[in-house]
Amino acid sequence: MYHVSVLLNESVESLQIKPGGTYVDATFGGGGHSDLILNKLGGKGRLFAFDQDEDARQNATKAPFAGNDQFSFIHANFRHLKRMVRAEGVRVGTVDGILADLGVSSHQLDSGSRGFSYRFDAELDMRMDTREGPTAADVLNQTSAVELQQILSELGEVRNAKTLAEAIVRFRENSPFKTTGELTALCEKYFMGDRMRYQSQVFQALRMHVNDELGALKELLESAYEMLAVGGRLSVITFHSLEDRMVKNFMKTGNVEGIVKKDFYGNIDRPWELVTKKPIEPSHEEIKNNTRARSSKLRVAEKKTAENQ
Ligand SMILES: C[S@@+](CC[C@H](N)C(=O)[O-])C[C@H]1O[C@@H](n2cnc3c(N)ncnc32)[C@H](O)[C@@H]1O
Repeated sequence: MYHVSVLLNESVESLQIKPGGTYVDATFGGGGHSDLILNKLGGKGRLFAFDQDEDARQNATKAPFAGNDQFSFIHANFRHLKRMVRAEGVRVGTVDGILADLGVSSHQLDSGSRGFSYRFDAELDMRMDTREGPTAADVLNQTSAVELQQILSELGEVRNAKTLAEAIVRFRENSPFKTTGELTALCEKYFMGDRMRYQSQVFQALRMHVNDELGALKELLESAYEMLAVGGRLSVITFHSLEDRMVKNFMKTGNVEGIVKKDFYGNIDRPWELVTKKPIEPSHEEIKNNTRARSSKLRVAEKKTAENQ
């Protein structure tokens, strides 16, 4: 199984798909959400799906996507959503719904050779898009101890981030990092609390940094607002508290920092109508069947008109 879609019905229902509308799935993966969106489009309308991963692109060349002229796959980072969707002939302010299901797929985590998981010894790569950018090994070998500490503590909430960052720098003085096994062995020496939890926090922090996941999310949210029509919906599934905070802030204030802006008369800018005041979380049943759903949160908002902001 490539990937079990998280909050599948809840997220697609929340888009209130109109047959004939224009939709974007920013994170195609195994295509579970895209498949349901296409079903609801009912033979009319368009779906554009993004994924920067080559294996996800391969999924888009199979049924039910291959040869479906309502469907277009865009092999790119979703941070380029506005530019790429416009290049497909879609005008700014005309998209009816955008879905993003962030992070990595089970397939990526379970592919031993990609370096995403501490469970397999592999090259330290961790890039979702293997066509460009530094690998996790490059980051470990070239980043200062201070910056490594920041990455580990902010993105992974690693408790002894300074100790581990200094140990990484000492290790690479002898020989540069090449494999996940080397990083795992270092974590074995320095872990605090639960061993496996510690490993996954360290790997998560590095992965989020390597793929600039928070930077890409910020650009996605900004592009999504511009591309959506008034009344169009944005549904985002997050797996990390920093991502969820950015989405929550953006839906409340129109910026990821959550800075409340006022117009000349002191009226607060509210570019979105919140559809979910509190995030939707998976049921016990879903978590029982798919532990990956455990930390997921779905937030949904509708773009307001300029007049009723
Ligand atoms: C959680 S999976 C999506 C699963 C999908 N919704 C499904 O039902 O199968 C996330 C996917 O988004 C892709 N992805 C993550 N960040 C991305 C980005 N910035 N640009 C493009 N694709 C991205 C990953 O490569 C991965 O395939």
